[in-house]
Amino acid sequence: MSDRVDIDALLGRMTLQEKIGQLSVLADSIRPFAFDVNPDSFQWGPQRTRELIQAGEVGALFNGVGAAEGRELQRIAVEESRLGIPLLLGADVIHGMRTVFPIPLGEAASFEPELARRTARAAAVEATREGLHWTFAPVVDVARDQRWGRVAETTGEDTYLASQFAAARVRGFQGEDLTANDSLLATLKHFAAYGAVSAGLDYNTVDLSPQTLHDVHLPPFKAAIDAGALTVMSSFNDINGVPATANRDLLTGILREQWGFEGFVVSDYTSDFELIAHGYAADEKHAAQLSLNAGLDMSMQSGVFMDHLATLVAEGAVSLQTLDAAVRRILDVKARMGMFDNPYRSLVVPPEGPAPYLAEHDALARDAARRSVVMLKNASDVLPLRKSGQRIALIGPFARDRENLAGCWNIFGDSTREIDLETGLRAALDDPDSLTVVEGCEIEDAIEGGIEAAVAAARDAEAVLLAVGEPTRFTGEAQSRTQIVLPAAQQALVEAVIATGTPVIVLLRNGRALALSLALQAADAILVTWFLGSQTGHALADLVFGDHSPSGRLPISFPHESGQQPYYYNHPSSGRPYQPGGFEAFRTRWRETANTALYPFGHGLTYTRFEYGEVELSAPQLEWDETLAVRARIANVGTRGGEEVVQLYVHDRVASRVRPLRELKGFEKIALAPGESRIVEFRLSRHDLQFRGVDNRPIAEPGLFDLWLAPSATTGDPVSFELRPAASGAG
Ligand code: NOJ
Repeated sequence: MSDRVDIDALLGRMTLQEKIGQLSVLADSIRPFAFDVNPDSFQWGPQRTRELIQAGEVGALFNGVGAAEGRELQRIAVEESRLGIPLLLGADVIHGMRTVFPIPLGEAASFEPELARRTARAAAVEATREGLHWTFAPVVDVARDQRWGRVAETTGEDTYLASQFAAARVRGFQGEDLTANDSLLATLKHFAAYGAVSAGLDYNTVDLSPQTLHDVHLPPFKAAIDAGALTVMSSFNDINGVPATANRDLLTGILREQWGFEGFVVSDYTSDFELIAHGYAADEKHAAQLSLNAGLDMSMQSGVFMDHLATLVAEGAVSLQTLDAAVRRILDVKARMGMFDNPYRSLVVPPEGPAPYLAEHDALARDAARRSVVMLKNASDVLPLRKSGQRIALIGPFARDRENLAGCWNIFGDSTREIDLETGLRAALDDPDSLTVVEGCEIEDAIEGGIEAAVAAARDAEAVLLAVGEPTRFTGEAQSRTQIVLPAAQQALVEAVIATGTPVIVLLRNGRALALSLALQAADAILVTWFLGSQTGHALADLVFGDHSPSGRLPISFPHESGQQPYYYNHPSSGRPYQPGGFEAFRTRWRETANTALYPFGHGLTYTRFEYGEVELSAPQLEWDETLAVRARIANVGTRGGEEVVQLYVHDRVASRVRPLRELKGFEKIALAPGESRIVEFRLSRHDLQFRGVDNRPIAEPGLFDLWLAPSATTGDPVSFELRPAASGAG
């Protein structure tokens, strides 16, 4: 139940300065603060911030943490400011607060939105206990270019998968009741098409057809708004020449007029001020005018609203009506959070001592981590390893590493609770001493004698676990790469270890898809382990020793070469499609490599094998207003239990705009015991077949479609069905 505050009456009592104050979120320079996640632009020290709160001239603070100090700040706002409007305290809680869950890209590989809901819930429980009301998450950008460092924060390259996770995470953060003490207000970011930055270069321009914007990049935002999200963050990029933060079509046209969004829009960090560097605004005042008039409600950290809105209103460049509408939206969200009735919500100082839920959250982090791992290959069933009677060498710069477990954008994680690889593996072994650990090289540099020591350890072992990959600092904001490969020092290590002939299992640490060298590809097994968070070591031990079977699937395509980027499975059909093994000249391919993925979207192996029965349709035709049932029997024909992710893809054979080769329209993860089988059923309607037509309106076109139930985006045999026109003949 939201507050009973009368917002119109409150608005009527506010001075212009108080109204403008509500429209800013400032770095929390009073509480212990995360300084290094944004550029340094501190204009307000603790003293000035306190004065602004006292004067009722700031609406929200961000990235500080602590219930006791937060409570004191709130007390100043509520008791000492004239109108007592409570502050909203926000932070980047992206994949866990103190307990760290896998990076969002990793968690997406679980293909379990319900898991994401649960980890978001756990993060909300921890964050609200430490004086936070609001998180700048989930990231719902679709990322089709692996050079972009922020792929790690996303759900990957697919719109449908991103939409499912976006909605689940909002439900998780916000819980059932927004006024509850442990409900964390969610923010959808970055609006919009930030994942489409040109060349995968962070902050770069976005040149995008309106159809691709609507078909690919906007649906996750819409799904999350439908799930109850009440704040949206405008992105740094321009779209077709108009910066998102001053983009009226986006912030007002699409978000409010088309979708009926009732919450507020916050800028990204100084993105309104950056309109000047874009060459879109002449100066700060102009930047404030353009962004507020476009539909931005809250300015993050730049101060351009605080400094210029009063003049702009006086001059008539911003109407009082527009300003009031923004203030009303922010007050309304505060009211829906129950903050007027209970301003100290989420600011209850917890008793000393370990939090009661920690063991529960560690168990969830372990489960989430092992469910996020993707096994790309497992030649001759080299995995799982035995816990005894086998000499194992753990080699690589990530073997003992404790700096790169949480991954990017975890700013409050409790590193003392993190389990590294060596610790986790030793804890699982019957004889912990049967594991030999050798670094071999540093993350980017050789170690003198390192390769020799690694080769000796590999020769002496019956199996090698090779822990290589990217460090955290290669991923996240402003970390675009031109080559998505291992650093040279690690590459040399991989080659030397593979050459020993001892079976090698690669444990790849990565925040994006990587182009795997031939030596890496030659490993006997490859596990994609992302950045798994607090329970990395235990989770990987569970998988390596077979206590848990890998069940993750790739949410991004692994290319052959870096130069294929942007590469994504659902690219539109070309007129000269690549033909594997066939005639190659004058085809859509590169000189050096095929137009395919090395490992496609959706791919992932388990410790068992699944067989797909024939795909059955409830009818050969889908009537305009009806649904089509699509089903197949899936059988576990191996000797171990396991989980399969059954994926439904469609392809529109002939359409008025060139359609993708395949598009994901459904998935279901099922657990089957050895010998067990089950029918998996999906329902399709014409709405699932819709796309933006040449006039940018949503349309579904009658005609033939191909459909697959398959274990990845490039496998399975299609069946076809026909979408029948509407009875009236319209369509
Ligand atoms: C910039 C990032 O783009 C955004 O994701 C984050 O929420 C803000 N900084 C605040 O830290």
